[in-house]
Amino acid sequence: MKIIAFNGSPRKKWNTAMLLQKALEGAASQGADTKLIHLYSLNFKGCISCFACKTREGKSYGKCAVKDDLTPIFNKIEKADAIILGSPIYFGTVTGEMRSFMERLMFPYLTYTNPPQSLFPKKIKTGFIYTMNSTEQEMKERAYGQHIALNENTLTRIFGASETLCSFDTYQFKDYSKVVADRFDPMKKAKRHKDIFPADCNKAFKMGIRLVKAGR
Ligand SMILES: Cc1cc2nc3c(=O)[nH]c(=O)nc-3n(C[C@H](O)[C@H](O)[C@H](O)COP(=O)(O)O)c2cc1C
Repeated sequence: MKIIAFNGSPRKKWNTAMLLQKALEGAASQGADTKLIHLYSLNFKGCISCFACKTREGKSYGKCAVKDDLTPIFNKIEKADAIILGSPIYFGTVTGEMRSFMERLMFPYLTYTNPPQSLFPKKIKTGFIYTMNSTEQEMKERAYGQHIALNENTLTRIFGASETLCSFDTYQFKDYSKVVADRFDPMKKAKRHKDIFPADCNKAFKMGIRLVKAGR
């Protein structure tokens, strides 16, 4: 079993990366071969709307024709048994890098037919891990759930069943006293990081286990 996780945070060791790492540890505990890829270390752009992936009898039909750092990664994804995406919430949705990655990853597989079909060659499980400053209540008030549900829906349509994990009210700064961020209570943030974040890590670990078991 091969499981690949994609970190859509520019930070390689913070909340999103840690949760993805835990999910991969869960997968590895079931014998899976795992890899964490940091999107911010790669050179790529979003979909350029060339439609080579949709061109009738074209050599890139169902594939992204753009050649850059994502090209070898798309080949690896076709051989994977599950993939996990992870992103902080930036202005209510995923980061720009994650968005660009999702466009490039999914548009070539989506057919403009009625109903839409997927050209991805098999069914695999996917997971999506989101981290955010917002509490669960604030997430609801700010309607982030709409983006999250849409992503889950698109992933399901293209790859197969998808599951979502959200980590709320994350610890954002190394030292809260050095930044202008009066909105946050550093003590409360530290307490939550100590008491609740490990439980989120545990949920991520279990997600990794489930992804492997479902793919067997
Ligand atoms: C540019 C930017 C925009 C952000 N926008 C939001 C937002 O709209 N809602 C929110 O809850 N958190 C927002 N955050 C906070 C991050 O989502 C949160 O700190 C996240 O856990 C960071 O992930 P990381 O630690 O993996 O980098 C934003 C952070 C940055 C840097």
